[in-house]
Amino acid sequence: MEKTRVVFDPAYTIAQVDPRIFGGFLELMGRAVYEGVYDPKSCHADENGFRRDTLGALHRLNMTVMRYPGGNFASGYHWMDGIGPKDQRPTVRELAWQSIEPNQFGTDEFIKLTHLMGWIPMITVNLGTGTPEEARNWVEYCNSPVGTKYADLRAKTSSEAPYHVKLWCLGNELDGLWQLGHVPAEQYAILAQQAAKMMKDTDPSIEMVACGSSAMSSPSYIEWDRIVLEYIGSYADYVSLHRYVGNPENDTANYLAVTNTIDKRIEHMDAVCRIVQAKTRSKKRHYLCFDEWNVWYRATGPEDTNGRGKFAPPLIEEPYNLEDALVIAGFLNSFIRHADSVKIANIAQIVNVLAPILTQGDQMLLQSIYYPFAMFSCRRDGVAIQPVVIGPAYDSPSYGRVNYIDTSAILGDGVLHTFLINRDLSEVAEVEIDHAGGKIESILSAEVVCGSSPKDSNTYENPYNIISQPLKTGIVRDGKAIFHLPALSVAAVTFKVS
Ligand code: AHR
Repeated sequence: MEKTRVVFDPAYTIAQVDPRIFGGFLELMGRAVYEGVYDPKSCHADENGFRRDTLGALHRLNMTVMRYPGGNFASGYHWMDGIGPKDQRPTVRELAWQSIEPNQFGTDEFIKLTHLMGWIPMITVNLGTGTPEEARNWVEYCNSPVGTKYADLRAKTSSEAPYHVKLWCLGNELDGLWQLGHVPAEQYAILAQQAAKMMKDTDPSIEMVACGSSAMSSPSYIEWDRIVLEYIGSYADYVSLHRYVGNPENDTANYLAVTNTIDKRIEHMDAVCRIVQAKTRSKKRHYLCFDEWNVWYRATGPEDTNGRGKFAPPLIEEPYNLEDALVIAGFLNSFIRHADSVKIANIAQIVNVLAPILTQGDQMLLQSIYYPFAMFSCRRDGVAIQPVVIGPAYDSPSYGRVNYIDTSAILGDGVLHTFLINRDLSEVAEVEIDHAGGKIESILSAEVVCGSSPKDSNTYENPYNIISQPLKTGIVRDGKAIFHLPALSVAAVTFKVS
């Protein structure tokens, strides 16, 4: 294949990369919490009932922020069911996923977990079946000093010190017909405004995420976002985006070109934010919170989405392969290329449910998508640089033309982190990396995820089929680097630069 030249000119900076784009999402559903991160009966359980094995694997993902308790679950959740002595918490019928929720993992357990893991907590309030006042009371429970009702309750049940939860989502996917409490945009905007005002009155330091369109295919796409932002823009700091992609036609080349629409999704939403800012003559720019993203198209049937009245049923446990790992890297490249607008992003989710990590009894398995996330997130500090890619491209039926090489870069202190995906199904790609206006001195580290087929995956029998491994095909010459990237691969390379 013809060589690709990738130019990163440090003069063309996009913005500082917000570390919060390496976030996760823990929903109280399926086996995400129970059997996933919290399993007092497991041989891996610590004194809190948290699973040491999954937390160890999550630790290596280096996540920054964690969204909880949903998702769809949040729209029917009453947070007070999940506090106080565990044996006095009610077991309830959970409607979003039709499961049984015993409320053994509530706000205090979540906060304890975030402290243990060094995660920034991000809480979604219930604007489906809940009231604005209930949302406001949750802020008081989490953030107010003792001396008032809910803060005193926190002190009594768990901690005298406030939790200082800074990030709050104003509901979840309320534009969707499937959502408990779905309403048209105008009604959501009123409800969210009422909640946001009381929440902010309780703690003026919090930041809030307005619920944006849940899918590009939704009939109110973009219009919903405009209406909502125009109405509650002065309270909200971010607007949420959700995106799940897949390969239902089993066309790998087409699937890998989906990055074009990830870029487009971000640019549409940023455009709405800017139009609303102009229309309302506001000084405030809204940023994007991509608080659900992943590959999800296989585990979508009734057996995957309906818990049939069971406790911790296996729900939406998507198996991932090599092509999915490349798509995950494509999402991250897109977030880095849009560092000026995307400030928070949460891969959905973390364990068992749409997850990089699976459990089976006391066993644990790392899926293919685990590795690119880890490779990116340990190279996240610095400023995003605008890439220029000069090289071969192809036309995809659904998403238009893309280069075979998809890329992004972050310039840190004397180091340049580059991320490169080779979408070619069969050929090694020669890539020249040019730090224009500067010089590549040496390769500090280089890793790659690759395999022999797009459908290669990890199983309990063969758990190390798709992993990250050292990439040894790079050389540095005359201030530039040349790499040979295997077909269907994602690489992360850190250079010393001057
Ligand atoms: O992540 C799984 C589900 O996907 C979430 O609960 C919901 O918000 C989205 O539709």
